[in-house]
Amino acid sequence: MEEIGYRGKHYTIPALDTAGALTIEARPGVDVDLPESSPILDKIGSVWDLENFKVPRQPVRLGHVPESARAAIHRPGMPRTLDMPIKFPGSPYRVPAAFAQLEWLLQRVADIEAVINPRHHDEFYCYMTVDQGDVPAGSLQREAPCHVDGFQGARWTPKVRINHTYTISDVLPTAYYVQPFDFTGLDEARHNFFWEMNRQVAETNSAHEWHADPWELTLMDAYTVHRGAAAPVATPRTWIRLSFEVRIFDRLGNARNPLFRYDWPMHPRDIEGLGLEVFAPDSDPSLRVFPWQDVDGNPHPDRHQRTRPNLRPRG
Ligand SMILES: [Fe+2]
Repeated sequence: MEEIGYRGKHYTIPALDTAGALTIEARPGVDVDLPESSPILDKIGSVWDLENFKVPRQPVRLGHVPESARAAIHRPGMPRTLDMPIKFPGSPYRVPAAFAQLEWLLQRVADIEAVINPRHHDEFYCYMTVDQGDVPAGSLQREAPCHVDGFQGARWTPKVRINHTYTISDVLPTAYYVQPFDFTGLDEARHNFFWEMNRQVAETNSAHEWHADPWELTLMDAYTVHRGAAAPVATPRTWIRLSFEVRIFDRLGNARNPLFRYDWPMHPRDIEGLGLEVFAPDSDPSLRVFPWQDVDGNPHPDRHQRTRPNLRPRG
């Protein structure tokens, strides 16, 4: 395991073996129950366009993990892993043995992907994130503002195909905000869009918050606004994310898969480094600071403390 840190953040990069690896291929024609219409399914693999935020997006519900597959997924011991490529364009899925317990899930996602994304095999990478550990009472496994995965900011010119992401958690499912977001007047080179998502959610008092069930497999896209859920009591949690992307993820801190030969220069990347500012400076201060900052923008004296956006949930 390797430890990396920059701008006050810490990443552990697992050392993974090549022995005993899994290879998974999509099985064509597997039965998948899909909704008749979904803005997410309509836009799979289309090129990024901010206009799509105006259409509310509830993740596509893809069924629950069968009881028989849960014990394996839930079993503690998987290394914490951030955005490790497990599929390259043109390749099958190759997964180190440390994640063999995810075989059912990976096969299921590969099969669904083959149904919904005609470009999956030739054009897409798949990146896997695994977070397994104890969530203390009153906190989030991954503290973050309202956000999307795969936001294409100013660095991405021209824009490319959007990502889409499958997630599952055994407890504390993610909160999704199924409402339109309007970014008229914001400049991607200047404004922090995630703070504006916070503000627009708070404006509705979180009235459009939606959760999947524990163990329910869901699919979101790059316009699906969400945030982790806080644990009311301390609880172990297993959370898996599989992101399909046409882009190289070269962020320093991402896990490396020894089953593929690649040598990307890795770069420190985080939103703080972009120097963005708030679009609505009069909004509640908790909605426009980074989690590691207090409401005045200063780092918390205790580096484990986090500011949570006041999204004004009722009740
Ligand atoms: Fe996310």
